[in-house]
Amino acid sequence: MKLLDGKLVSAKIKEGIKQEAAAFLASTGRKPHLVAVLVGNDGASETYVASKMRNCELVGFESTNIHYPATISEDSLIAKIRELNADEGVDGIIVQLPLPKHIDPERITEAIDYRKDVDGFHPVNLGRMQRNLPCFIPATPYGILLMLEYYGLDTAGMHAVVVGRSNIVGSPMSILLARNASPGNCTVTLTHSRTKNIKDEVRRADIVVAAIGKKHFITADMVKEGAIVIDVGINREISSETKSGYKLYGDVDFERVAPLASWITPVPGGVGLMTIVGLLKNTLEAAKKSIY
Ligand code: GUN
Repeated sequence: MKLLDGKLVSAKIKEGIKQEAAAFLASTGRKPHLVAVLVGNDGASETYVASKMRNCELVGFESTNIHYPATISEDSLIAKIRELNADEGVDGIIVQLPLPKHIDPERITEAIDYRKDVDGFHPVNLGRMQRNLPCFIPATPYGILLMLEYYGLDTAGMHAVVVGRSNIVGSPMSILLARNASPGNCTVTLTHSRTKNIKDEVRRADIVVAAIGKKHFITADMVKEGAIVIDVGINREISSETKSGYKLYGDVDFERVAPLASWITPVPGGVGLMTIVGLLKNTLEAAKKSIY
C-alpha cells in the first residue's frame, strides 16, 4: 500500500501558486481576491471557511469573509452576490453550503457570475465540464485529479465506482472520471442511497471514491485487492483526544482497507487538503482570466 499524501502534494502545489500570485501582484499591482460568504453558525462550515481564508493569506491572495446571520433573506443574499459580481476587485466568490432552509441553494448558485464561480457549481461550469471545455472544476474533485496526476496514476480503462451523488463531490467526480482526459477515461458507476447491493458494486472497483458522509462506510470486505481508494469523508465526532475537541473520521475504514489497497488517501491529511488547493487554483485562474 502506498499513501496518497495530501500534506506533501498540497504543500508542493501551494508553493507554485504562491509564486504565481507574486507574479500576478508584480504585473497588476493587486492580489488575487477570494470572497467567501458564510450564512449562519454551522460549526463545520465556520471551520472550512476559516481554513480557506487562512490558505489564501498563505499563498499571497486577498481574502474576505462575509458572515451573515441565519436570518438573512434570500433576496438580501442575492443582492450582495450581484454587488460582488460587479466588483472588479473581486475575482472569486463562494457561498458556503449548506444554507439555511429558507434559502434555495440553486437560486444562489445561479446568481453568482459563472466567471467568478470558483466553486464550479454554476450550471454553465457544470455543462462546460461535461463537454470537456475550459471551466472551473469543483474544488474537491479537482483536488483529487491533481493528486492522481501528481502520483502519475493513469486511470484509463479502470472501472471507477463513486459512492455518493452530491452536487459538490460525487456527481462532478463521476463526470470527470468518465471524460476523455487524463486522469479520466474510466468506466464509471455512480452509486447512491437507492443503489441495490452497493457492496457488490464497490467490490468491482479499480478505483473507489467514497463521498457518502458516513464514518467507515467502506469496509475491507468491499474493496478489491489492488484498488485505488480515495476517501472524501470528513466525519466529525466530539473527542477529548484532540486540541480542537473534534476527531475526524473518513468514509473508509482506513486501518482495515489500507492493506488491500494499492494507493489510499488518509483522513485527515488526504483529500481535505487537496480541496483547498483546487479552490486556490480556481481563484488564481479567475484572477488571471485564463478561462473566461
Ligand atoms: N460545503 C462543503 N463543501 C463545500 C465547497 O466545496 N464549497 C462550498 N461553497 N460549500 C461547501
